[in-house]
Amino acid sequence: MPRQFFVGGNFKMNGTIKSITDIVHHLNSAPLDPKTEVIIAPPTLFLLLVREHLRKEIEVAAQNVFDRGNGAYTGEISAEQLRDSGVGWTLVGHSERRVVLGEGDEFIASKTKAALDGGLGVILCVGETLEQRESNQTISIVTSQLSAVASKITTTSWSKIVIAYEPVWAIGTGKVATSEQAQEVHKAIRGWLGEKIGEGVAEETRIIYGGSVSEKNCRELAGEGDIDGFLVGGASLKPAFVDIINARQ
Ligand code: G3P
Repeated sequence: MPRQFFVGGNFKMNGTIKSITDIVHHLNSAPLDPKTEVIIAPPTLFLLLVREHLRKEIEVAAQNVFDRGNGAYTGEISAEQLRDSGVGWTLVGHSERRVVLGEGDEFIASKTKAALDGGLGVILCVGETLEQRESNQTISIVTSQLSAVASKITTTSWSKIVIAYEPVWAIGTGKVATSEQAQEVHKAIRGWLGEKIGEGVAEETRIIYGGSVSEKNCRELAGEGDIDGFLVGGASLKPAFVDIINARQ
């Protein structure tokens, strides 16, 4: 069965009540491809606002989740609290949390397990730095990031994971990976899933690309066999995000 096209919008630490409300109104009135699964991830502060006003067929995601249940963890948010707020997904392992906040593979794997156990879908972000790419470590870095998660979750849990390949050197730089570069890594990830987890998981798991995706480059990327969608940063804050959602039309 073909994998459903999946587009996520990661607002990162951007927006105000007014600007995010404007985005919600734009998405509510836009003609969206019904075959595309759409998720948007506003800053935590706006999750309830977005969930209340956004068209229901668009899911809302948190940008982060803690790896433990409710308790004395100041500043953190649990999967249980997100589910209670109508949030169905969370990002985990975004490179900005790996690089800026120093989150390691083990912590990210623990967060992934907690999110899945708490009934959330997980957009699991992996990717290499420019230095790692230039020293031909891309596939080993990405598969080691995935291995850390695989060691903590069950095979069936992969059905609630969307893998986002986000080369760090392409994030926020305007320097998008070429279709060939992205397809090569997506194919390698799918091969790793088949070898380490199972052929069914490899075939069914959406592997989406993130890193300077725009309305100008999305259609070419979307034409690649192992690119099942996008995780969009900057462009998700703009009206042209709708064109990216409709990239397969
Ligand atoms: O999570 C998506 C993000 O990292 C990509 O950012 O601005 O390059 O689309 P951007």
